[in-house]
Amino acid sequence: MDLQAASKDQLQQWAQQLEAEYETIKAQKLGLDLTRGKPSAEQLSLSNAMDGILDGNYSDDAGTDCRNYGGLDGIAGARALGAELIGAPASNVMAGGNSSLTLMHQAMSVAYHYGLNGPESAWNKQEKATFICPVPGYDRHYGVCEHIGINMVTVGMDANGPDMDAVEKLIKEDSSIVGMWAVPRFSNPTGVVYSDDVVARIAKLGNIANANFRVFWDNAYAVHALSDDAPQLANIWQACKEAGTEDSVLQFASTSKITFAGSGVAFLAASDANLSDFKKSLGFMTIGPDKVNQLRHVKFFAGDHALAEHMNKHAAIIRPRFESVLNHLQAAFGNNELGQWESAQGGYFISFDTQPGLAKEVVSLASEAGVKLTPAGATFPYGQDPQNSNIRIAPTVPTVEQVDEAMKVFVCCVKLASVKQALAA
Ligand SMILES: Cc1ncc(COP(=O)(O)O)c(C=O)c1O
Repeated sequence: MDLQAASKDQLQQWAQQLEAEYETIKAQKLGLDLTRGKPSAEQLSLSNAMDGILDGNYSDDAGTDCRNYGGLDGIAGARALGAELIGAPASNVMAGGNSSLTLMHQAMSVAYHYGLNGPESAWNKQEKATFICPVPGYDRHYGVCEHIGINMVTVGMDANGPDMDAVEKLIKEDSSIVGMWAVPRFSNPTGVVYSDDVVARIAKLGNIANANFRVFWDNAYAVHALSDDAPQLANIWQACKEAGTEDSVLQFASTSKITFAGSGVAFLAASDANLSDFKKSLGFMTIGPDKVNQLRHVKFFAGDHALAEHMNKHAAIIRPRFESVLNHLQAAFGNNELGQWESAQGGYFISFDTQPGLAKEVVSLASEAGVKLTPAGATFPYGQDPQNSNIRIAPTVPTVEQVDEAMKVFVCCVKLASVKQALAA
């Protein structure tokens, strides 16, 4: 389907065929959903053995009674699990409650109101505080910034991660910049793994930025590869040590998409100085995390390869769904200009770009045909995709058959919207 080269007659013929296909789909009254970036019940069931695993024994290796208050840093075993996920020393990892998003909001609030390096370092001392947001990205990150009152500026993403020339330029030119979001492995939503060069350049930002600059390194999909040959991520902790910028990066992760999404354990890894200031504030918010749940996780992942073996089981469930999406996209758009995407090798999403101006139309057509997609614009700050082209596809919850069905509809909607746009031009 080469829309540029097609005659008006040809476009009209395609439009008629696609309208007919679309009406047939609509008549089926489908009820499919590609919006939910969460584990399926089958994936959650992989962790059911956590239930009852403590069998009345609530003490950790240090003899701590995990039922009681205390231990702001989390129990040692959970911190070791976080260290394995994040790739930082356990002594610099805190294990918290069930949500890394909560930790990110707390860390950003502390940095904004109280400072992560004494009161003078608080971002609200500046006239304006701005975060760099690689786009497309995770809507809840933008929500945290908006909620706290932090301005957002975007940089593009490519197959290697954020456009680092743009990031460095912004930092040099705009003194209001206090930080940057990063989802470095199987990014939400593009599925991209940051290249070694990008990781090294991010680690060096602390040397050119405002002293209070912090990268929020959200490694939510650190171990969520779909196959053994998925790209690895360079270790930012190590890179920061080499660059002398340990204070400039806060790392987050959780077991939300490893065990139970609502009952996982979240982690924060940071320099001694950052952790110390963060904990001063955290101590006003809680007497300590849910250590019983932490202990359940420690017991569940006891053994050298337990985590890797567990993630292989997740991959076996998710892989066919991703393959279905990618096969449909390749078959429909592999040889034309109608869409672009990254072949995600892990994570929870595939990000698709229509021709400029069509994302909202495609989402609306799909919705009318019984396939729910994440609202267009959600992957950009303030819900504004300037190109109106990005659509996030989340295939983990539906069955493989449902993904297959939904993708047929998606493809039809993209083609229909594209042909109509070409006809109107
Ligand atoms: C990039 C990213 N970070 C964080 C989260 C939420 O993590 P948690 O459940 O630990 O709060 C998600 C969930 O979709 C995510 O995609």
